[in-house]
Amino acid sequence: MTFFQTLSPRNALSTRATNIAASLFFYLIGAAAFAAPQTIESGAVWPDDRGKHVQSHGGGIIKVGDTYYWFGEDRSQGLDRTKRYVGCYSSKDLAHWTFRKQIAFSEPENVGRGWILERPKVYYNEKIKQYVMYMHLDGPGYKVARVAVATCDAIDSDYKYLKSFRPLGQESRDIGQFIDDDGSAYLIFEDRPAKGFHIAKLADDYLTVEKDMSLISAPLEGGAVVHYKDLYYVVGSALTGWRPNPNKYATSASLEGPWSEFKDIAPPDTNTYGSQSTMLLKIAGTKATTVIFMGDIWKPRTQWDSRYLWMPLQIGEGKLWLPEPKPWTLDIETGEAEIKK
Ligand code: GAL
Repeated sequence: MTFFQTLSPRNALSTRATNIAASLFFYLIGAAAFAAPQTIESGAVWPDDRGKHVQSHGGGIIKVGDTYYWFGEDRSQGLDRTKRYVGCYSSKDLAHWTFRKQIAFSEPENVGRGWILERPKVYYNEKIKQYVMYMHLDGPGYKVARVAVATCDAIDSDYKYLKSFRPLGQESRDIGQFIDDDGSAYLIFEDRPAKGFHIAKLADDYLTVEKDMSLISAPLEGGAVVHYKDLYYVVGSALTGWRPNPNKYATSASLEGPWSEFKDIAPPDTNTYGSQSTMLLKIAGTKATTVIFMGDIWKPRTQWDSRYLWMPLQIGEGKLWLPEPKPWTLDIETGEAEIKK
C-alpha cells in the first residue's frame, strides 16, 4: 500500500491510520535529526531560515524555555540610513536560526547624524514582565559613551525606547551581558577614563545599573563573563577598533575579585583567529557543560558580511583556551561538543 492511494469508502479508514503512522514516522525522523549534534562552522556565511546571512553582530544570547534568542547589530545593506537596527533570531540548537524581527530605532537623543547603536543585549525581567534591551549609544567619534535602554512585552516585537544614561555615572562604550546561575543580571561596560571595564549588577527592574561588582583594571573591551565550576572567567579584547587583537582572560572566585592576571586565550599571533569577543555562552547539558566563545569576525568595509567565530572552549581549573577554529558539533541536549578532525 502506498501512502497516496485514492480513497474509497472501503479503505478510507485504514488509509487514514496509515497516513497518521506515516506522519508520526516522518515527525520522529525529523525530531531525531534535530536532536542530533548540529555542525557549527566559524567564518562561514550563516544563512537563516530565509537563506539570508544572520545579522546579529556584536550580539548576545538569552534562553527562554528551550529556545535561544540571539540579538545583535543588523548591518544589512539598503536599510534606512537614519535608523539603526537590531536583529533578533531564534534557535533550539544554536545551529539553525530563524529570523524573528528586525528592530528599528530612530535617532533618539540628538547625538548627531552618523549616530551609533552597537552591541545590543536583551534580558528578561520577571518583576516588570518585560524584555529589557541595553545598547551602546554613541555619536560620531564615540564621545557620547552612554547606554540606551528599550523595553518590550514580547521578545521579538517593537521595543520602546526609554532613555539613555552613563552607568554608575561612568563613560560606557562596548557592553556585554552576564546572567549568573542564580539568575542575577549584570552589565559589563568598558570605562575608558578608568582604563578598565566594569561588571555591574542591574537594579531589580533591570532599568538601571545599580552596583559595581568590579572595576577590572585592564584596557579591554568586548567584555564577556562566564561562571564555570566555582570560578568566574572574564574575556576581553584590546582596544584596536575593528582590527582583531589577542583577546585575554582572567579568573576570580567572586565577581568582586580579586582577579588573576590576564593571559592569552589563543596564540597571540593569530589575533584570536581574526575575531573579537562578544559573549561566553554556557550550555549545561545532561552529560556535559560546554562554554562557547562567541566572537565577531568584523569586516569594517562590508559590515553586512561580518562573520562569526564560535568555538567550544577548553576551560577549567583556572585555564581557558580557544582551540583553532574548525567545524564542530554541538548536542544541545547532552551539552557535548566535538571538534571535527
Ligand atoms: C571596537 C568595538 C566595536 C566597535 C568598533 C568601532 O573596538 O568593539 O563594537 O565599536 O570598535 O571601531
